Amino acid sequence: MRWLITGAGGMLGRDLCAVLAAAGETDVVAAGRADLDITDADAVRAAADGADVVVNAAAWTNVDGAETDEQAASAVNGHAVRHLAETAGKRLIQVSTDYVFDGAAAAPYAEEAPRAPINAYGRGKAIGEQAVLSAGGFVVRTAWLYGEHGPNFVRTMLRLAAARDTVDVVDDQVGPPTWSFALAGQIVALARSGARPGVYHGTASGSTSWFGLARAVFEEAGLDPERVRPTTSDRFVRPAPRPAYSVLGHDRWAGTGVAPLPSWRSMLHEAMPVLRP
Ligand SMILES: NC(=O)c1ccc[n+]([C@@H]2O[C@H](COP(=O)([O-])OP(=O)(O)OC[C@H]3O[C@@H](n4cnc5c(N)ncnc54)[C@H](OP(=O)(O)O)[C@@H]3O)[C@@H](O)[C@H]2O)c1
Repeated sequence: MRWLITGAGGMLGRDLCAVLAAAGETDVVAAGRADLDITDADAVRAAADGADVVVNAAAWTNVDGAETDEQAASAVNGHAVRHLAETAGKRLIQVSTDYVFDGAAAAPYAEEAPRAPINAYGRGKAIGEQAVLSAGGFVVRTAWLYGEHGPNFVRTMLRLAAARDTVDVVDDQVGPPTWSFALAGQIVALARSGARPGVYHGTASGSTSWFGLARAVFEEAGLDPERVRPTTSDRFVRPAPRPAYSVLGHDRWAGTGVAPLPSWRSMLHEAMPVLRP
């Protein structure tokens, strides 16, 4: 099977390449941004030619920056994805986000729940999703990703723990902290499974707040979790509004032979050795 990974230099892209290598997949084109700019339609067509699976891990991921340059963000997350979808059709697995939802729900979002993004990044990703589904491809939505090769909430908490007596962390946003390496494994399994195209939710089972995640990090590190104190998002106002509730349902995995991801707490425990500084 020939694989094309776009955005191969990013946090998830690097884990996808590691999972493929560990799985013995040798026919892998790992295209970082310098190798393949996904907004270059001709280059995308040439790169996708002959690939059996295209995983698009490339994205504009600066959520706050998208507010002031929505056109540029949507060029990558929406319009380039539309072209990728027209080129690769059902061979495409597009990585998407909980930010296509407004976060007003009180129960996990189902795969078919209507999109209602509340920020510019989410609007661009929603354009991309719609194009992929119209072209018969796969959309894997994830959320609250952390990993070895990216901005790392765990490392930030450990750094703050070393510098301060107490750490204030927001307790009014709820989501499923998800290890990018585990998600990469699930995406590879999905591609190999023969499952039907459509929307899948690649997020940890269960949920917590950033405060809950920070306490768990302290516990994992053998530190006193009482040093983490709850606060509210209005103390940390940012340009892009965030959904308050980002929990996604996992029903679509039933019958595919691919398991939903395990609980966020067990994944954090497994991930800790590679996340520590
Ligand atoms: N991180 C999260 O919490 C989170 C949550 C939900 C969904 N997601 C989704 O998960 C996917 C992977 O995200 P990530 O966390 O791995 O992000 P990341 O580390 O920022 O990786 C994205 C990669 O895409 C590259 N890129 C940007 N514009 C490009 C272009 N025009 N052509 C080719 N490559 C381009 C970036 O290169 P540069 O670094 O050079 O710009 C970067 O290497 C994305 O679809 C993202 O929307 C992430």
